[in-house]
Amino acid sequence: MNPLLEQEYLDKIRVGKEKAKKYYDSGDHENASEEYQKCSKYCEILVKKTEDETKKKDYYNAFEKFVDASAKLKKMKTVVGSETTRTREETETEEGFEPYIRENLMHRNKETLPSWADIGGLEETKNTIKESIVLAYARTPEKVEIEGWRNILLFGPPGTGKTLLAAATAQGLDAAFFNVKAGQVLSKYYGESPKIVNALFEVARAESPAAIFFDEIDSIALSRCAEIDEATRRVLSSLLTELDGMSGTEKFVLFLASTNTPWDIDDAVISRFEKRIYVPLPDDDARRSILRIQLENKGFVFDDYDWLVEKTDGYSGRDIKVLCKEGAYIMVRELNPGVADVADAGLEEIKRFEIRTRKVDRGDFEKAFLRMKPASTGDMVKQYEEWNDMFGAL
Ligand SMILES: Nc1ncnc2c1ncn2[C@@H]1O[C@H](COP(=O)(O)OP(=O)(O)OP(=O)(O)O)[C@@H](O)[C@H]1O
Ligand SMILES: [Mg+2]
Repeated sequence: MNPLLEQEYLDKIRVGKEKAKKYYDSGDHENASEEYQKCSKYCEILVKKTEDETKKKDYYNAFEKFVDASAKLKKMKTVVGSETTRTREETETEEGFEPYIRENLMHRNKETLPSWADIGGLEETKNTIKESIVLAYARTPEKVEIEGWRNILLFGPPGTGKTLLAAATAQGLDAAFFNVKAGQVLSKYYGESPKIVNALFEVARAESPAAIFFDEIDSIALSRCAEIDEATRRVLSSLLTELDGMSGTEKFVLFLASTNTPWDIDDAVISRFEKRIYVPLPDDDARRSILRIQLENKGFVFDDYDWLVEKTDGYSGRDIKVLCKEGAYIMVRELNPGVADVADAGLEEIKRFEIRTRKVDRGDFEKAFLRMKPASTGDMVKQYEEWNDMFGAL
């Protein structure tokens, strides 16, 4: 079995277990049971796909445990009044899920969203999105119909700016921005999620112009395991129906989805996306702009960019952000050795304390490099590139 894929399922199981535990702790046994059931499904896949006999046995044991736990929890009633239950009851007013969507998934505050200028590199991607917006709004000659792109899939390694792009789109459009983590919605309203998906598009149309950002779409659009459960299948089908109904409507709703694992997604979903854009690790120029965003724009003086650009080959935008934070922190600590002691002197004293700074230099970054490594490996990058060659569409 492909080790990357195996790791992916193990990660899913780990996350599922954590979620189940949280549900259990809050008294929501029903959702806890569902989470364990999902974990059992992942184990089942691992049992089928693993060649290693010892591992097979371990996965099978885990499978049995999850099935057992899920069954037990199913029999226990959800404790009424627990946090999750209450949210659900509150939400299910006459207006259905609308209040939940407006309160929890919608961002109206333009000022708090990043802008195009906050994104280094990705020029072509930015242009594709901007074009869609212009084509949707600009006037065309009589009888000429030009439609921009309404569904865009962003895929690529973690930390390369996918979420950032979606947020900047909403900021640039002055649009209502719906930020939806697919897995979250699915597990929170398990069983009723198809209704939430419909409600989401309805609210977005009402608020038009709007951008819906569907993060981690792979968590609901898995293709590999034909064994995906009924509830997930229903969410998927309501999403497909919404996507089919999008073009040609008067209201402008841009649907952006993102994933780190495009190869896991169902073909029917992939084919719905008019644009499938690879958001790769930043090249030299992009790294230079991200470094400037992270240092210069934050007031730090640094003048060895050529060197740092070369040293950060293979780093994602998020890696670079962390690296710059680390470098600056090393400089600050060196210049303010007693800084921790000030904490004991009380808030007034802390507020009076002025942090000294100097230029950040090569030495600071050399130390920072020792403390961190990039999140993506060459092998992973190759996998994205291969998928992009076959299915990407910019
Ligand atoms: N191209 C970029 N320009 C500037 N900053 C970036 C860029 N890419 C990433 N970053 C920095 O890294 C952080 C994480 O990026 P973002 O959340 O957009 O990654 P992502 O692609 O959505 O990752 P994931 O796949 O893990 O969700 C951003 O908040 C930003 O600070
Ligand atoms: Mg993201």
